[in-house]
Amino acid sequence: MSILPFAIFFFFVFYSFNFADSSTAFVAPITRDQSTELYTISIYFKTPLESTDLLLDLGGKFTWIDCTPDSYASITHHYIPCGTNLCNSLSSLACSNCFRPSGPGCHNNSCALFPENPVIRNAILAQALVDSFALATTDGGACGQLAVVPNFVASCSDDELLVGLPEGVSGLAGLGRSNYSLPAQVSSVYASPNIFALCLPGPSTTSPGPAFFNTGGPYYFSPGVDLSSHLVYTPLILNSIGFTIITYYGHPSDEYFIGLTSININGKRIEFDRSLLTINDKGFGGTRLSTVTPYTTLETSIYNAFVTAFVNESAALNLTVTDPVSPFEVCYAASDVYSTRLGPAFPVVDLVMHSEDVFWRIFGANSMVRIDGEEEGGGGDVWCLGFVDGGERPRTSVVIGGRQMEDNLLQFDLVSMRLGFSSSVLAHNTNCGGFNFTEDPDL
Ligand SMILES: *[C@@H]1O[C@H](CO)[C@@H](O)[C@H](O)[C@H]1NC(C)=O
Ligand SMILES: *[C@@H]1O[C@H](CO)[C@@H](O)[C@H](O)[C@H]1NC(C)=O
Ligand SMILES: *[C@@H]1O[C@H](CO)[C@@H](O)[C@H](O)[C@H]1NC(C)=O
Ligand SMILES: *[C@@H]1O[C@H](CO)[C@@H](O)[C@H](O)[C@H]1NC(C)=O
Ligand SMILES: *[C@@H]1O[C@H](CO)[C@@H](O)[C@H](O)[C@H]1NC(C)=O
Repeated sequence: MSILPFAIFFFFVFYSFNFADSSTAFVAPITRDQSTELYTISIYFKTPLESTDLLLDLGGKFTWIDCTPDSYASITHHYIPCGTNLCNSLSSLACSNCFRPSGPGCHNNSCALFPENPVIRNAILAQALVDSFALATTDGGACGQLAVVPNFVASCSDDELLVGLPEGVSGLAGLGRSNYSLPAQVSSVYASPNIFALCLPGPSTTSPGPAFFNTGGPYYFSPGVDLSSHLVYTPLILNSIGFTIITYYGHPSDEYFIGLTSININGKRIEFDRSLLTINDKGFGGTRLSTVTPYTTLETSIYNAFVTAFVNESAALNLTVTDPVSPFEVCYAASDVYSTRLGPAFPVVDLVMHSEDVFWRIFGANSMVRIDGEEEGGGGDVWCLGFVDGGERPRTSVVIGGRQMEDNLLQFDLVSMRLGFSSSVLAHNTNCGGFNFTEDPDL
């Protein structure tokens, strides 16, 4: 995605303001960063529009971007004065002044926010910022013209907050439940339903996966599969206690929790204390989804029961554990394992939701991680169980991580407050790289 020529940009603004309406859906590419195992979403920001890569944070309250002087040039940016309705509705906790030359992120009497880096768990005080934002439109099958979301509210940050994030990103895209998350703002500008969907690219593709906004479908993937027809649904659950670094009193968590009720391996329920799966009055327990957690983490007692059952079921397939490769504890020689369309042949893991017949099925492609002997500390070519011990009293008992969400379509429906999930899309002969990001030739 390159910077658009200036003249074409003005044509877009004119065109899209006239024709984008409440049926307008958007799409943006998501890529996986090999070294951090995190995901990046590419959007357009500023005027003239600039392609901007941001860390994808499903639970993020708002979007933030590096406003370090010299790295931020835009003719449309402005600040939010303290005390305004907009500043109050952002639940700003501070008002700030600035003693550098005025510019993006540097004004007096400016509404201030606390952008957070969820990877290194750091937060800074920075000024809020309003600027133009744009995404490509889509009919669900291909990528169309860009349409602008004027007056997009974000926070500034500085480069110190970028530590630990993928190379080349200049901020974070917050997709959480808050009113100022990226999907919430995109839907309110176009008065469209706040329904978005993610298809994180997995190792089976080098193409980006799509993030769809303002649409419940269709979502077409090569060779013409509409993945919206393969979704099953479970309610999204509100955790009334947030765990941001900065506390926002009385504000619920912006993260997405679901009502997992049991975990089955090869159809057999594993035994552990079920109360760990409910959220208590301190906000502890339950199950959430996280794009900034590379591998699903399970509370220690759940993890131990899970590993015991998995190893036992694998033994029934004549698979014997071999030397583990950190951070994993259960690995098998790759040469012993059959491969299938759904990844290596290992026992099937089901995450059972609110009802016995609603489960998220995890096959080898998502439960296992391939580590070839070339890597540091690797003893040989192995498949390792891609779940990790989350510790004894974690805040959330089960955190479904990136590896387990890849090549699955996940729909976050904030209108019906439900999660739609497809389980592995490899079962439908496609993968998340199967969305056609080739731009419309009319562009
Ligand atoms: C903010 O106000 C102070 C004191 O009046 C002034 O010195 C400073 O230059 C102002 N900053 C900006 C960015 O205008
Ligand atoms: C979000 O917006 C809704 C509808 O406008 C409003 O009722 C709610 O109070 C807002 N939430 C916060 C935290 O401001
Ligand atoms: C171990 O696996 C065998 C064969 O699948 C099964 O019959 C048995 O119940 C399992 N034991 C445990 C503790 O899961
Ligand atoms: C496991 O190995 C035994 C002995 O070699 C064999 O009889 C059995 O069929 C194998 N089972 C599977 C599931 O491959
Ligand atoms: C992708 O979309 C473009 C533009 O709509 C179209 O020209 C192209 O044929 C599509 N490619 C595939 C493989 O469908």
